[in-house]
Amino acid sequence: MCGIIGYVGANALTSPDTLEVLLNGLNGLEYRGYDSAGVALSNGSLEVYKHEGQVSNLESMLPQSAPDSVGIGHTRWSTHGPPSDRNAHPHTDTHNRVAVVHNGIIENYEELKTTLQAQGVTFESDTDTEVVPHLIAAELEAGADEETAFRRAIDQLEGSYAIAAVFADSETIYAARHESPLVIGVSDEGNYLASDVPAFIRFTDRVIYIDDGQFVTLDRDSVTVTDSEGHTVETKTETISWSPEDAGKSGYDHYMLKEIHEQPAALRGCLRGRVNELERSITLDSIPPLEWEGPIMFVACGTSYHATLGGVQLLEERGMHAVAYQASEFEAARRPVGENSLVIAVTQSGETADTMRAMREANRVGATTVAVTNVVGSSASREADHVLYIRAGPEIGVAATKTFASQQAAMVLLASALHGEIDPELVQALRTVPDSIQTILDTSDAKAVAETYADADAYFFIGRGPQYPVALEGALKMKEITYKHAEGFAAGELKHGPLALVTDNTPVFATVIGDGPRARKTIGNIKEVEARSAPVVAITDGRSDVARYADHVLEVPEADDVTGSMLANVQLQLVSYWVAHGLGRSIDKPRNLAKSVTVE
Ligand code: F6R
Repeated sequence: MCGIIGYVGANALTSPDTLEVLLNGLNGLEYRGYDSAGVALSNGSLEVYKHEGQVSNLESMLPQSAPDSVGIGHTRWSTHGPPSDRNAHPHTDTHNRVAVVHNGIIENYEELKTTLQAQGVTFESDTDTEVVPHLIAAELEAGADEETAFRRAIDQLEGSYAIAAVFADSETIYAARHESPLVIGVSDEGNYLASDVPAFIRFTDRVIYIDDGQFVTLDRDSVTVTDSEGHTVETKTETISWSPEDAGKSGYDHYMLKEIHEQPAALRGCLRGRVNELERSITLDSIPPLEWEGPIMFVACGTSYHATLGGVQLLEERGMHAVAYQASEFEAARRPVGENSLVIAVTQSGETADTMRAMREANRVGATTVAVTNVVGSSASREADHVLYIRAGPEIGVAATKTFASQQAAMVLLASALHGEIDPELVQALRTVPDSIQTILDTSDAKAVAETYADADAYFFIGRGPQYPVALEGALKMKEITYKHAEGFAAGELKHGPLALVTDNTPVFATVIGDGPRARKTIGNIKEVEARSAPVVAITDGRSDVARYADHVLEVPEADDVTGSMLANVQLQLVSYWVAHGLGRSIDKPRNLAKSVTVE
Protein backbone atom coordinates (compact mmCIF):
# COMPACT_ATOMS: atom_id res chain seq x y z
CA MET A 1 0.00 0.00 0.00
CA CYS A 2 2.09 2.96 -1.20
CA GLY A 3 5.75 3.16 -0.25
CA ILE A 4 7.58 6.19 1.09
CA ILE A 5 11.31 6.87 1.09
CA GLY A 6 13.19 9.96 2.30
CA TYR A 7 16.87 10.75 2.58
CA VAL A 8 19.09 13.51 3.90
CA GLY A 9 22.79 12.85 3.19
CA ALA A 10 25.31 13.99 5.80
CA ASN A 11 27.90 15.18 3.32
CA ALA A 12 27.54 15.98 -0.38
CA LEU A 13 30.98 14.61 -1.23
CA THR A 14 31.06 11.37 0.71
CA SER A 15 27.46 10.36 1.33
CA PRO A 16 25.48 8.24 -1.17
CA ASP A 17 23.84 10.26 -3.93
CA THR A 18 20.26 11.27 -3.16
CA LEU A 19 18.83 9.88 -6.39
CA GLU A 20 20.68 6.61 -5.92
CA VAL A 21 19.15 6.26 -2.44
CA LEU A 22 15.65 7.23 -3.57
CA LEU A 23 15.64 4.89 -6.57
CA ASN A 24 17.06 2.03 -4.55
CA GLY A 25 14.35 2.72 -1.97
CA LEU A 26 11.54 2.89 -4.52
CA ASN A 27 12.65 -0.39 -6.08
CA GLY A 28 12.75 -1.94 -2.61
CA LEU A 29 9.24 -0.64 -1.90
CA GLU A 30 7.58 -1.38 -5.23
CA TYR A 31 5.95 -4.47 -3.74
CA ARG A 32 3.74 -2.04 -1.77
CA GLY A 33 2.28 -0.44 -4.87
CA TYR A 34 3.29 0.19 -8.45
CA ASP A 35 0.64 2.34 -10.10
CA SER A 36 3.02 5.29 -10.34
CA ALA A 37 6.20 6.60 -8.79
CA GLY A 38 7.76 9.97 -8.11
CA VAL A 39 10.45 11.92 -6.31
CA ALA A 40 10.91 15.47 -5.05
CA LEU A 41 14.39 16.95 -4.70
CA SER A 42 15.03 20.03 -2.62
CA ASN A 43 18.13 22.12 -3.12
CA GLY A 44 17.20 25.78 -2.86
CA SER A 45 14.15 25.03 -5.00
CA LEU A 46 11.91 22.00 -5.49
CA GLU A 47 12.12 19.70 -8.46
CA VAL A 48 9.40 17.07 -8.79
CA TYR A 49 9.48 14.12 -11.20
CA LYS A 50 6.65 11.63 -11.41
CA HIS A 51 5.33 9.08 -13.83
CA GLU A 52 2.49 6.59 -14.15
CA GLY A 53 3.52 2.93 -13.96
CA GLN A 54 6.51 1.20 -12.48
CA VAL A 55 9.66 2.83 -11.08
CA SER A 56 11.52 2.07 -14.33
CA ASN A 57 9.22 4.57 -16.12
CA LEU A 58 10.24 7.26 -13.66
CA GLU A 59 13.93 6.42 -13.91
CA SER A 60 14.10 7.40 -17.58
CA MET A 61 13.05 11.00 -16.82
CA LEU A 62 15.42 11.65 -13.90
CA PRO A 63 18.72 13.55 -13.97
CA GLN A 64 21.92 11.50 -13.56
CA SER A 65 22.49 12.49 -9.95
CA ALA A 66 21.45 14.88 -7.19
CA PRO A 67 24.38 14.84 -4.78
CA ASP A 68 23.50 17.64 -2.41
CA SER A 69 19.71 17.43 -2.46
CA VAL A 70 17.32 16.41 0.23
CA GLY A 71 14.77 14.04 -1.28
CA ILE A 72 11.54 12.13 -0.82
CA GLY A 73 10.03 9.47 -3.08
CA HIS A 74 6.83 7.49 -3.40
CA THR A 75 5.46 4.44 -5.11
CA ARG A 76 1.66 4.43 -5.30
CA TRP A 77 -1.22 2.01 -4.89
CA SER A 78 -4.21 4.08 -5.94
CA THR A 79 -7.07 4.75 -3.56
CA HIS A 80 -8.34 8.19 -4.67
CA GLY A 81 -8.08 8.78 -8.40
CA PRO A 82 -6.85 6.39 -11.07
CA PRO A 83 -3.17 5.66 -11.72
CA SER A 84 -1.86 8.60 -13.79
CA ASP A 85 0.96 11.12 -13.91
CA ARG A 86 -1.20 13.79 -12.28
CA ASN A 87 -2.26 11.56 -9.39
CA ALA A 88 1.28 10.33 -8.76
CA HIS A 89 3.02 11.64 -5.63
CA PRO A 90 4.76 13.89 -4.57
CA HIS A 91 2.08 16.57 -4.56
CA THR A 92 2.96 20.22 -4.16
CA ASP A 93 1.26 23.46 -3.19
CA THR A 94 0.46 26.07 -5.83
CA HIS A 95 3.77 27.92 -5.43
CA ASN A 96 5.97 24.82 -5.25
CA ARG A 97 7.16 25.57 -1.71
CA VAL A 98 6.47 22.15 -0.28
CA ALA A 99 6.23 18.60 -1.68
CA VAL A 100 4.41 15.80 0.13
CA VAL A 101 4.23 12.00 -0.11
CA HIS A 102 1.57 10.01 1.71
CA ASN A 103 0.62 6.43 2.46
CA GLY A 104 -2.91 5.82 3.80
CA ILE A 105 -6.26 7.54 3.41
CA ILE A 106 -7.27 11.02 4.54
CA GLU A 107 -10.90 10.47 5.42
CA ASN A 108 -11.89 14.12 5.78
CA TYR A 109 -10.15 15.28 2.59
CA GLU A 110 -13.38 16.34 0.88
CA GLU A 111 -14.23 18.84 3.62
CA LEU A 112 -10.67 20.12 3.68
CA LYS A 113 -10.60 20.40 -0.10
CA THR A 114 -13.88 22.32 -0.19
CA THR A 115 -12.55 24.79 2.37
CA LEU A 116 -9.29 25.22 0.48
CA GLN A 117 -11.11 25.66 -2.84
CA ALA A 118 -13.28 28.34 -1.24
CA GLN A 119 -10.00 30.10 -0.36
CA GLY A 120 -9.05 30.04 -4.05
CA VAL A 121 -6.80 26.98 -4.16
CA THR A 122 -6.84 25.04 -7.44
CA PHE A 123 -6.29 21.30 -7.21
CA GLU A 124 -4.20 19.50 -9.80
CA SER A 125 -5.07 15.89 -8.90
CA ASP A 126 -7.94 13.65 -7.79
CA THR A 127 -6.06 12.49 -4.69
CA ASP A 128 -6.86 12.92 -1.03
CA THR A 129 -3.16 13.66 -0.45
CA GLU A 130 -3.09 16.94 -2.31
CA VAL A 131 -4.91 18.72 0.52
CA VAL A 132 -1.77 18.33 2.66
CA PRO A 133 0.67 20.58 0.74
CA HIS A 134 -2.08 23.17 0.36
CA LEU A 135 -2.81 23.08 4.10
CA ILE A 136 0.89 23.48 4.84
CA ALA A 137 1.16 26.37 2.37
CA ALA A 138 -1.82 28.10 4.00
CA GLU A 139 -0.05 27.89 7.38
CA LEU A 140 3.19 29.24 5.87
CA GLU A 141 1.28 32.15 4.42
CA ALA A 142 -0.23 32.80 7.82
CA GLY A 143 3.32 33.21 9.13
CA ALA A 144 4.10 29.81 10.63
CA ASP A 145 7.59 28.37 10.31
CA GLU A 146 7.99 25.11 8.36
CA GLU A 147 7.77 22.73 11.30
CA THR A 148 4.76 24.49 12.79
CA ALA A 149 3.04 24.61 9.41
CA PHE A 150 3.61 20.89 8.96
CA ARG A 151 2.29 20.05 12.42
CA ARG A 152 -0.77 22.25 12.07
CA ALA A 153 -1.60 20.66 8.73
CA ILE A 154 -1.26 17.15 10.16
CA ASP A 155 -3.45 18.10 13.10
CA GLN A 156 -6.31 18.74 10.69
CA LEU A 157 -6.21 15.27 9.15
CA GLU A 158 -8.48 12.36 9.98
CA GLY A 159 -7.75 8.86 8.73
CA SER A 160 -4.55 6.92 8.38
CA TYR A 161 -1.27 8.27 7.19
CA ALA A 162 2.45 8.19 7.02
CA ILE A 163 3.39 11.52 5.51
CA ALA A 164 6.72 13.08 4.61
CA ALA A 165 7.35 16.60 3.35
CA VAL A 166 10.29 18.57 1.99
CA PHE A 167 10.42 22.32 1.56
CA ALA A 168 12.07 24.26 -1.26
CA ASP A 169 14.43 26.17 0.98
CA SER A 170 15.27 23.77 3.79
CA GLU A 171 17.47 20.74 4.38
CA THR A 172 15.02 18.98 6.69
CA ILE A 173 12.44 16.29 6.01
CA TYR A 174 9.35 16.42 8.23
CA ALA A 175 7.27 13.28 8.73
CA ALA A 176 4.36 12.03 10.80
CA ARG A 177 2.68 8.73 11.38
CA HIS A 178 -0.85 7.63 12.25
CA GLU A 179 -1.83 4.01 11.51
CA SER A 180 0.57 3.61 8.58
CA PRO A 181 4.11 2.32 9.04
CA LEU A 182 7.14 4.58 9.22
CA VAL A 183 10.66 3.57 10.09
CA ILE A 184 13.83 5.67 10.30
CA GLY A 185 17.29 4.48 9.25
CA VAL A 186 20.29 6.16 10.86
CA SER A 187 23.93 6.18 9.74
CA ASP A 188 27.01 8.37 9.73
CA GLU A 189 26.46 9.03 6.01
CA GLY A 190 22.96 10.38 6.49
CA ASN A 191 19.46 9.61 7.68
CA TYR A 192 16.63 7.76 5.97
CA LEU A 193 12.91 7.31 6.42
CA ALA A 194 10.70 4.73 4.76
CA SER A 195 7.56 2.65 4.96
CA ASP A 196 9.66 -0.46 5.38
CA VAL A 197 13.25 -1.46 6.03
CA PRO A 198 14.06 -3.01 2.59
CA ALA A 199 13.95 0.56 1.23
CA PHE A 200 17.26 1.45 2.89
CA ILE A 201 18.78 -1.79 4.20
CA ARG A 202 21.57 -1.46 1.57
CA PHE A 203 22.74 1.69 3.37
CA THR A 204 22.07 1.05 7.04
CA ASP A 205 20.82 -1.67 9.36
CA ARG A 206 20.25 0.71 12.32
CA VAL A 207 16.57 1.59 12.63
CA ILE A 208 14.11 3.48 14.80
CA TYR A 209 10.44 2.46 14.58
CA ILE A 210 8.05 5.40 14.79
CA ASP A 211 4.81 5.09 16.77
CA ASP A 212 1.37 6.43 15.99
CA GLY A 213 1.02 10.11 16.80
CA GLN A 214 4.75 10.82 16.54
CA PHE A 215 6.48 13.41 14.37
CA VAL A 216 9.99 13.19 12.93
CA THR A 217 12.47 15.79 11.80
CA LEU A 218 15.26 14.33 9.72
CA ASP A 219 18.35 16.46 9.34
CA ARG A 220 21.80 15.84 7.87
CA ASP A 221 23.25 14.78 11.19
CA SER A 222 20.31 14.27 13.52
CA VAL A 223 16.92 12.65 13.90
CA THR A 224 14.40 14.08 16.34
CA VAL A 225 11.18 12.31 17.26
CA THR A 226 8.48 14.26 19.07
CA ASP A 227 4.99 13.50 20.34
CA SER A 228 1.83 15.30 19.30
CA GLU A 229 2.52 18.03 21.89
CA GLY A 230 5.99 18.63 20.49
CA HIS A 231 7.88 17.02 23.39
CA THR A 232 10.99 15.08 22.41
CA VAL A 233 10.51 11.34 22.68
CA GLU A 234 13.33 9.02 23.65
CA THR A 235 13.90 6.51 20.88
CA LYS A 236 15.48 3.09 20.73
CA THR A 237 17.82 2.30 17.84
CA GLU A 238 17.61 -1.38 16.85
CA THR A 239 19.82 -3.39 14.52
CA ILE A 240 18.18 -5.41 11.74
CA SER A 241 19.27 -9.04 11.69
CA TRP A 242 18.89 -9.72 7.96
CA SER A 243 21.02 -8.53 5.09
CA PRO A 244 20.32 -6.85 1.71
CA GLU A 245 20.94 -10.24 0.02
CA ASP A 246 18.03 -11.72 1.97
CA ALA A 247 15.79 -9.20 0.26
CA GLY A 248 17.24 -9.82 -3.26
CA LYS A 249 16.21 -12.35 -5.94
CA SER A 250 19.34 -14.54 -5.67
CA GLY A 251 19.24 -15.55 -9.34
CA TYR A 252 15.56 -16.54 -9.47
CA ASP A 253 13.39 -14.92 -12.15
CA HIS A 254 10.91 -13.79 -9.54
CA TYR A 255 10.78 -13.18 -5.81
CA MET A 256 7.80 -15.52 -5.68
CA LEU A 257 9.80 -18.47 -7.01
CA LYS A 258 12.70 -17.64 -4.71
CA GLU A 259 10.36 -17.44 -1.74
CA ILE A 260 8.69 -20.75 -2.65
CA HIS A 261 12.18 -22.27 -2.61
CA GLU A 262 12.98 -20.64 0.71
CA GLN A 263 10.19 -22.53 2.48
CA PRO A 264 12.38 -25.28 3.97
CA ALA A 265 14.66 -22.65 5.53
CA ALA A 266 11.72 -20.50 6.62
CA LEU A 267 10.10 -23.44 8.41
CA ARG A 268 13.33 -24.44 10.12
CA GLY A 269 13.57 -20.85 11.33
CA CYS A 270 10.01 -20.95 12.65
CA LEU A 271 10.58 -24.17 14.60
CA ARG A 272 14.11 -23.46 15.86
CA GLY A 273 14.44 -23.56 19.63
CA ARG A 274 10.71 -23.69 20.25
CA VAL A 275 10.00 -27.37 20.78
CA ASN A 276 11.57 -29.35 23.58
CA GLU A 277 10.71 -32.94 22.79
CA LEU A 278 12.39 -34.32 25.91
CA GLU A 279 10.29 -32.17 28.16
CA ARG A 280 7.37 -32.31 25.78
CA SER A 281 7.01 -28.56 25.98
CA ILE A 282 6.76 -25.65 23.60
CA THR A 283 8.25 -22.24 24.30
CA LEU A 284 6.81 -19.46 22.22
CA ASP A 285 9.17 -16.53 22.65
CA SER A 286 8.06 -14.66 25.74
CA ILE A 287 4.37 -15.59 25.61
CA PRO A 288 3.39 -16.67 29.14
CA PRO A 289 0.72 -19.34 29.79
CA LEU A 290 -2.53 -17.67 28.72
CA GLU A 291 -6.00 -17.82 30.22
CA TRP A 292 -9.23 -16.90 28.50
CA GLU A 293 -12.97 -17.39 28.46
CA GLY A 294 -15.15 -18.10 25.44
CA PRO A 295 -13.94 -19.04 21.99
CA ILE A 296 -10.41 -18.23 20.90
CA MET A 297 -10.88 -15.66 18.14
CA PHE A 298 -8.59 -15.37 15.14
CA VAL A 299 -8.65 -12.26 12.98
CA ALA A 300 -6.83 -12.18 9.64
CA CYS A 301 -7.22 -11.46 5.93
CA GLY A 302 -6.54 -13.30 2.68
CA THR A 303 -3.84 -15.93 2.88
CA SER A 304 -3.37 -15.30 6.60
CA TYR A 305 -7.07 -16.00 7.08
CA HIS A 306 -6.60 -19.35 5.36
CA ALA A 307 -3.85 -20.15 7.87
CA THR A 308 -6.24 -19.34 10.71
CA LEU A 309 -8.83 -21.79 9.33
CA GLY A 310 -6.18 -24.48 9.87
CA GLY A 311 -5.57 -23.04 13.36
CA VAL A 312 -9.27 -23.38 14.22
CA GLN A 313 -9.27 -27.05 13.18
CA LEU A 314 -6.18 -27.75 15.30
CA LEU A 315 -7.67 -26.08 18.37
CA GLU A 316 -11.09 -27.68 18.00
CA GLU A 317 -9.46 -31.11 17.66
CA ARG A 318 -7.80 -30.42 21.02
CA GLY A 319 -11.11 -29.57 22.66
CA MET A 320 -10.77 -25.77 22.55
CA HIS A 321 -13.46 -23.70 20.92
CA ALA A 322 -12.09 -21.38 18.25
CA VAL A 323 -13.48 -19.15 15.49
CA ALA A 324 -11.71 -17.47 12.58
CA TYR A 325 -12.99 -14.08 11.43
CA GLN A 326 -12.09 -12.30 8.25
CA ALA A 327 -10.80 -9.19 9.98
CA SER A 328 -12.88 -6.82 7.86
CA GLU A 329 -16.01 -8.65 9.08
CA PHE A 330 -15.02 -8.78 12.75
CA GLU A 331 -17.09 -5.76 13.65
CA ALA A 332 -20.15 -6.90 11.68
CA ALA A 333 -19.96 -10.39 13.19
CA ARG A 334 -20.96 -8.99 16.60
CA ARG A 335 -18.34 -11.29 18.08
CA PRO A 336 -18.46 -11.87 21.81
CA VAL A 337 -15.18 -10.09 22.57
CA GLY A 338 -14.63 -8.92 26.14
CA GLU A 339 -11.89 -8.45 28.69
CA ASN A 340 -11.48 -12.20 29.22
CA SER A 341 -11.29 -13.04 25.52
CA LEU A 342 -8.22 -14.20 23.64
CA VAL A 343 -7.85 -12.66 20.17
CA ILE A 344 -5.09 -13.83 17.85
CA ALA A 345 -4.26 -11.56 14.91
CA VAL A 346 -2.41 -13.36 12.15
CA THR A 347 -0.73 -10.96 9.74
CA GLN A 348 2.45 -11.44 7.77
CA SER A 349 3.13 -7.74 7.40
CA GLY A 350 1.79 -6.75 10.79
CA GLU A 351 0.31 -3.66 9.10
CA THR A 352 -2.93 -4.83 7.44
CA ALA A 353 -5.49 -2.15 8.30
CA ASP A 354 -8.47 -4.53 8.59
CA THR A 355 -6.56 -6.81 10.95
CA MET A 356 -5.17 -3.92 12.94
CA ARG A 357 -8.64 -2.44 13.41
CA ALA A 358 -9.96 -5.76 14.72
CA MET A 359 -6.98 -6.13 17.04
CA ARG A 360 -7.31 -2.58 18.30
CA GLU A 361 -10.97 -3.20 19.04
CA ALA A 362 -9.96 -6.28 21.06
CA ASN A 363 -7.30 -4.22 22.90
CA ARG A 364 -9.86 -1.51 23.58
CA VAL A 365 -12.19 -3.86 25.44
CA GLY A 366 -9.27 -5.32 27.40
CA ALA A 367 -9.03 -8.71 25.66
CA THR A 368 -5.68 -10.48 25.60
CA THR A 369 -4.21 -10.11 22.13
CA VAL A 370 -1.51 -12.13 20.40
CA ALA A 371 0.03 -11.08 17.07
CA VAL A 372 1.39 -13.83 14.84
CA THR A 373 3.53 -11.86 12.41
CA ASN A 374 6.65 -11.91 10.30
CA VAL A 375 7.74 -8.32 10.71
CA VAL A 376 9.66 -7.27 13.78
CA GLY A 377 8.70 -3.76 14.79
CA SER A 378 5.42 -3.85 12.81
CA SER A 379 2.31 -2.20 14.23
CA ALA A 380 0.82 -5.58 15.17
CA SER A 381 3.97 -6.61 17.01
CA ARG A 382 3.99 -3.40 18.99
CA GLU A 383 0.31 -3.17 19.80
CA ALA A 384 -0.46 -6.78 20.75
CA ASP A 385 -0.01 -7.99 24.31
CA HIS A 386 2.11 -10.89 23.05
CA VAL A 387 3.91 -11.66 19.80
CA LEU A 388 4.76 -14.88 18.04
CA TYR A 389 7.17 -14.20 15.18
CA ILE A 390 6.94 -16.66 12.30
CA ARG A 391 10.56 -15.89 11.32
CA ALA A 392 10.10 -16.49 7.59
CA GLY A 393 12.52 -13.71 6.55
CA PRO A 394 11.55 -10.83 4.25
CA GLU A 395 8.84 -11.67 1.71
CA ILE A 396 8.81 -9.32 -1.26
CA GLY A 397 6.57 -11.10 -3.82
CA VAL A 398 3.07 -9.74 -3.40
CA ALA A 399 1.59 -13.25 -3.32
CA ALA A 400 2.29 -14.72 0.11
CA THR A 401 4.07 -18.08 -0.10
CA LYS A 402 6.72 -18.84 2.51
CA THR A 403 4.92 -16.79 5.10
CA PHE A 404 1.82 -18.98 4.65
CA ALA A 405 3.92 -22.11 5.26
CA SER A 406 5.38 -20.52 8.37
CA GLN A 407 1.94 -19.43 9.55
CA GLN A 408 0.73 -23.02 9.13
CA ALA A 409 3.63 -24.21 11.31
CA ALA A 410 2.97 -21.42 13.82
CA MET A 411 -0.64 -22.59 14.09
CA VAL A 412 0.56 -26.06 15.09
CA LEU A 413 2.92 -24.58 17.70
CA LEU A 414 0.29 -22.22 19.02
CA ALA A 415 -2.41 -24.90 19.23
CA SER A 416 -0.04 -27.18 21.17
CA ALA A 417 1.05 -24.34 23.47
CA LEU A 418 -2.54 -23.28 24.21
CA HIS A 419 -3.52 -26.89 24.78
CA GLY A 420 -0.61 -27.22 27.20
CA GLU A 421 0.50 -30.53 25.73
CA ILE A 422 2.48 -31.37 22.67
CA ASP A 423 1.44 -34.08 20.30
CA PRO A 424 4.82 -35.80 19.81
CA GLU A 425 3.79 -37.41 16.53
CA LEU A 426 2.64 -34.13 15.04
CA VAL A 427 5.75 -32.31 16.22
CA GLN A 428 7.92 -35.06 14.75
CA ALA A 429 5.97 -34.83 11.50
CA LEU A 430 6.44 -31.05 11.50
CA ARG A 431 10.18 -31.50 11.75
CA THR A 432 10.19 -33.56 8.55
CA VAL A 433 8.27 -30.93 6.56
CA PRO A 434 11.32 -28.85 5.48
CA ASP A 435 13.00 -31.92 3.94
CA SER A 436 9.76 -33.07 2.35
CA ILE A 437 9.24 -29.63 0.80
CA GLN A 438 12.78 -29.78 -0.53
CA THR A 439 11.93 -33.12 -2.19
CA ILE A 440 8.87 -31.53 -3.79
CA LEU A 441 10.91 -28.57 -5.04
CA ASP A 442 13.49 -30.93 -6.54
CA THR A 443 11.03 -33.25 -8.27
CA SER A 444 7.78 -31.39 -8.90
CA ASP A 445 5.92 -31.88 -12.20
CA ALA A 446 3.92 -28.73 -11.55
CA LYS A 447 5.44 -26.93 -14.54
CA ALA A 448 4.26 -29.63 -16.98
CA VAL A 449 0.80 -29.69 -15.41
CA ALA A 450 0.65 -25.88 -15.64
CA GLU A 451 1.57 -26.00 -19.32
CA THR A 452 -1.14 -28.61 -20.00
CA TYR A 453 -3.83 -26.44 -18.44
CA ALA A 454 -2.59 -22.95 -19.27
CA ASP A 455 -5.65 -22.30 -21.48
CA ALA A 456 -8.26 -23.52 -19.01
CA ASP A 457 -11.45 -21.48 -18.60
CA ALA A 458 -11.23 -21.72 -14.81
CA TYR A 459 -9.47 -23.71 -12.09
CA PHE A 460 -11.16 -25.40 -9.15
CA PHE A 461 -9.50 -26.61 -5.97
CA ILE A 462 -11.04 -29.05 -3.53
CA GLY A 463 -10.06 -30.59 -0.21
CA ARG A 464 -11.49 -31.84 3.08
CA GLY A 465 -10.47 -31.08 6.68
CA PRO A 466 -6.95 -29.61 6.73
CA GLN A 467 -6.95 -29.76 2.91
CA TYR A 468 -9.90 -27.34 2.69
CA PRO A 469 -7.98 -24.16 3.67
CA VAL A 470 -5.31 -25.27 1.21
CA ALA A 471 -7.95 -25.50 -1.54
CA LEU A 472 -8.94 -21.89 -0.74
CA GLU A 473 -5.31 -20.82 -0.71
CA GLY A 474 -4.57 -22.66 -3.98
CA ALA A 475 -7.40 -20.77 -5.65
CA LEU A 476 -6.37 -17.41 -4.18
CA LYS A 477 -2.81 -17.83 -5.45
CA MET A 478 -4.09 -18.80 -8.91
CA LYS A 479 -6.40 -15.75 -9.10
CA GLU A 480 -3.82 -13.31 -7.83
CA ILE A 481 -1.00 -14.05 -10.20
CA THR A 482 -2.70 -15.48 -13.32
CA TYR A 483 -5.83 -13.24 -13.33
CA LYS A 484 -7.83 -16.36 -14.23
CA HIS A 485 -11.02 -17.49 -12.55
CA ALA A 486 -10.25 -19.89 -9.72
CA GLU A 487 -12.32 -21.12 -6.77
CA GLY A 488 -11.61 -23.30 -3.79
CA PHE A 489 -14.31 -25.50 -2.30
CA ALA A 490 -14.75 -27.97 0.51
CA ALA A 491 -14.73 -31.19 -1.51
CA GLY A 492 -18.18 -32.21 -0.22
CA GLU A 493 -19.72 -28.88 -1.26
CA LEU A 494 -19.16 -29.31 -5.00
CA LYS A 495 -22.38 -31.25 -5.47
CA HIS A 496 -24.36 -28.51 -3.72
CA GLY A 497 -23.98 -26.07 -6.59
CA PRO A 498 -20.45 -25.49 -7.90
CA LEU A 499 -20.59 -28.75 -9.88
CA ALA A 500 -22.64 -26.79 -12.44
CA LEU A 501 -19.46 -24.87 -13.33
CA VAL A 502 -17.45 -27.96 -14.11
CA THR A 503 -16.65 -28.66 -17.79
CA ASP A 504 -13.93 -30.43 -19.75
CA ASN A 505 -11.95 -27.17 -19.68
CA THR A 506 -12.02 -26.58 -15.92
CA PRO A 507 -9.29 -28.65 -14.27
CA VAL A 508 -10.05 -29.67 -10.70
CA PHE A 509 -7.08 -29.84 -8.31
CA ALA A 510 -7.92 -32.26 -5.51
CA THR A 511 -5.74 -32.86 -2.47
CA VAL A 512 -5.91 -36.38 -1.04
CA ILE A 513 -3.60 -37.27 1.85
CA GLY A 514 -3.52 -40.75 3.39
CA ASP A 515 -6.14 -43.40 2.73
CA GLY A 516 -8.53 -42.81 5.61
CA PRO A 517 -12.25 -41.95 5.48
CA ARG A 518 -11.55 -38.33 4.48
CA ALA A 519 -9.41 -39.43 1.55
CA ARG A 520 -12.03 -41.93 0.45
CA LYS A 521 -14.80 -39.33 0.55
CA THR A 522 -12.72 -36.88 -1.49
CA ILE A 523 -12.07 -39.62 -4.03
CA GLY A 524 -15.86 -39.99 -4.26
CA ASN A 525 -16.09 -36.28 -5.09
CA ILE A 526 -13.34 -36.69 -7.67
CA LYS A 527 -15.39 -39.39 -9.38
CA GLU A 528 -18.30 -36.94 -9.54
CA VAL A 529 -16.25 -34.35 -11.46
CA GLU A 530 -14.59 -36.99 -13.60
CA ALA A 531 -18.03 -38.22 -14.64
CA ARG A 532 -18.67 -34.66 -15.91
CA SER A 533 -15.46 -34.89 -17.98
CA ALA A 534 -13.42 -32.37 -15.97
CA PRO A 535 -9.68 -33.08 -15.93
CA VAL A 536 -8.50 -33.99 -12.42
CA VAL A 537 -5.08 -33.23 -10.94
CA ALA A 538 -4.56 -35.12 -7.69
CA ILE A 539 -2.08 -33.85 -5.13
CA THR A 540 -1.41 -36.89 -3.04
CA ASP A 541 1.07 -38.77 -0.93
CA GLY A 542 0.17 -41.90 -2.88
CA ARG A 543 -1.34 -43.90 -0.06
CA SER A 544 -4.81 -44.01 -1.61
CA ASP A 545 -5.81 -45.19 -5.10
CA VAL A 546 -6.68 -41.64 -6.23
CA ALA A 547 -4.18 -41.93 -9.11
CA ARG A 548 -6.64 -44.29 -10.84
CA TYR A 549 -9.15 -41.46 -11.19
CA ALA A 550 -6.78 -38.58 -11.90
CA ASP A 551 -5.43 -37.30 -15.22
CA HIS A 552 -2.27 -36.08 -13.51
CA VAL A 553 -0.69 -36.70 -10.14
CA LEU A 554 1.49 -34.24 -8.23
CA GLU A 555 3.19 -36.26 -5.57
CA VAL A 556 4.13 -35.23 -2.05
CA PRO A 557 6.08 -37.36 0.44
CA GLU A 558 3.98 -39.49 2.79
CA ALA A 559 2.47 -37.32 5.51
CA ASP A 560 -0.31 -36.99 8.06
CA ASP A 561 -3.33 -34.84 7.23
CA VAL A 562 -1.98 -31.65 8.82
CA THR A 563 1.58 -31.63 7.50
CA GLY A 564 0.30 -33.13 4.23
CA SER A 565 -1.67 -29.91 3.75
CA MET A 566 1.58 -27.94 4.01
CA LEU A 567 3.19 -30.13 1.37
CA ALA A 568 0.22 -30.07 -1.00
CA ASN A 569 0.20 -26.29 -0.83
CA VAL A 570 3.73 -26.13 -2.26
CA GLN A 571 2.65 -28.07 -5.36
CA LEU A 572 -0.29 -25.70 -5.79
CA GLN A 573 1.97 -22.65 -5.41
CA LEU A 574 4.19 -24.04 -8.16
CA VAL A 575 1.25 -24.72 -10.50
CA SER A 576 0.02 -21.13 -10.11
CA TYR A 577 3.52 -19.79 -10.60
CA TRP A 578 4.05 -21.72 -13.83
CA VAL A 579 0.59 -20.90 -15.23
CA ALA A 580 1.29 -17.19 -14.56
CA HIS A 581 4.77 -17.55 -16.05
CA GLY A 582 3.34 -19.13 -19.21
CA LEU A 583 0.86 -16.27 -19.51
CA GLY A 584 3.62 -13.68 -19.05
CA ARG A 585 2.00 -12.12 -16.00
CA SER A 586 3.63 -9.62 -13.67
CA ILE A 587 4.13 -12.32 -11.05
CA ASP A 588 5.76 -10.35 -8.25
CA LYS A 589 3.53 -7.34 -8.70
CA PRO A 590 0.13 -8.54 -9.90
CA ARG A 591 -2.23 -5.88 -11.20
CA ASN A 592 -4.36 -4.00 -8.65
CA LEU A 593 -2.70 -5.61 -5.62
CA ALA A 594 -0.17 -4.57 -3.02
CA LYS A 595 1.82 -6.41 -0.42
CA SER A 596 0.84 -4.49 2.62
CA VAL A 597 -2.79 -3.38 2.67
CA THR A 598 -2.85 -0.42 4.99
CA VAL A 599 -6.33 0.86 4.08
CA GLU A 600 -9.65 -0.67 5.15
C1 F6R B 1 -2.28 -13.24 -0.79
C2 F6R B 1 -1.90 -12.17 0.09
C3 F6R B 1 -2.97 -11.42 0.81
C4 F6R B 1 -2.53 -11.23 2.27
C5 F6R B 1 -3.53 -10.33 3.02
C6 F6R B 1 -3.17 -10.19 4.47
O1 F6R B 1 -1.18 -13.80 -1.41
O2 F6R B 1 -0.74 -11.88 0.25
O3 F6R B 1 -4.19 -12.08 0.74
O4 F6R B 1 -2.45 -12.48 2.88
O5 F6R B 1 -3.55 -9.07 2.41
O6 F6R B 1 -1.88 -9.69 4.62
P1 F6R B 1 -1.11 -9.80 6.00
O7 F6R B 1 -0.80 -11.23 6.24
O8 F6R B 1 0.12 -8.98 5.80
O9 F6R B 1 -2.02 -9.25 7.04
